[in-house]
Amino acid sequence: MIFNKPRIVRVLDLIEESSTVRTLVFKDDLCSKAKPGQFMMVWIPGVDEIPMSISMMRDDLAGLTVRKVGEASNALFNMKVNSIIGIRGPYGNSFTPIIGNVMIIGAGTGLAPLIPLSDILAKQKVAIDMIIGGKTIEEFVFVNRAKEVLSRTKSSMIITTEDGSHGIKGLATDAILPILKEKKIDMIYTCGPELMMKKVFEIAQEFNLPVQASLERVMKCGIGICGSCCIGGYRVCKDGPIFDSLMLKEVKDEFGLFRMDHSGKRVRLQ
Ligand SMILES: Cc1cc2nc3c(=O)[nH]c(=O)nc-3n(C[C@H](O)[C@H](O)[C@H](O)COP(=O)(O)OP(=O)(O)OC[C@H]3O[C@@H](n4cnc5c(N)ncnc54)[C@H](O)[C@@H]3O)c2cc1C
Ligand code: FES
Repeated sequence: MIFNKPRIVRVLDLIEESSTVRTLVFKDDLCSKAKPGQFMMVWIPGVDEIPMSISMMRDDLAGLTVRKVGEASNALFNMKVNSIIGIRGPYGNSFTPIIGNVMIIGAGTGLAPLIPLSDILAKQKVAIDMIIGGKTIEEFVFVNRAKEVLSRTKSSMIITTEDGSHGIKGLATDAILPILKEKKIDMIYTCGPELMMKKVFEIAQEFNLPVQASLERVMKCGIGICGSCCIGGYRVCKDGPIFDSLMLKEVKDEFGLFRMDHSGKRVRLQ
């Protein structure tokens, strides 16, 4: 398959999203035509290869948005304009846009696949209630991009922080119930910390609402061979990363509870 062939690309632009998050923009025909929710495998020369959501698709350009947390993400964050990275993909399934009223709940770099999704939904004039959560104001990325996209359709945006430094004090999931009590929602899309997504799923179950959630697991091959990304009977790289309500129900004994670490050992999610 053509998208499995590693391509060497040059970083053309760097967008400072926050003190710990940057978007790297590069030219790639395949990733620039990816669907929202798909990811690519990114090779950082001499360091590692890690999965990254495709956060921007525009003309022949694509982007990834990285938060520096460990060795590979720090190396990616520190890339300069003209630095070289390797990419494979796009991989995985994608969010399925619907027509109706939708709720989008994201936190941190979880917004990366949700912004291209919002863009498509806004073009179709779908009504969007967006909730963006974070621990503190410093964690926020994409708020202006989200505002711009939402301005093109009937929409609302709620911001929550755990320390009250921005928006409403509390968790993103605290903002769900008031919306659900007030209006009819047809689909919930979510990406962010797994504990947040688990709570979103539980609330959605109570209201009999369908969910599409973007899951993360350790990925080595990205193409369904190595088994490092398994959850229940699914491989997140191949069957996901977007899990619908039916799939989430099937993996409920692991979702929000356990994952495999780099050595394949089952560890509790924090
Ligand atoms: C489908 C998919 C899409 C992804 N998309 C993105 C994306 O758009 N942007 C992005 O930055 N990352 C994304 N990731 C995560 C990314 O692949 C790496 O796992 C992450 O960058 C950490 O890699 P590392 O090697 O730097 O850190 P590691 O050495 O793996 O981890 C270092 C430490 O940071 C912790 N850590 C790992 N990930 C996070 C996190 N997200 N937040 C806080 N602490 C963490 C670990 O538990 C560990 O303690 C995605 C993962 C998947 C599976
Ligand atoms: S990363 Fe190898 S099977 Fe998913």
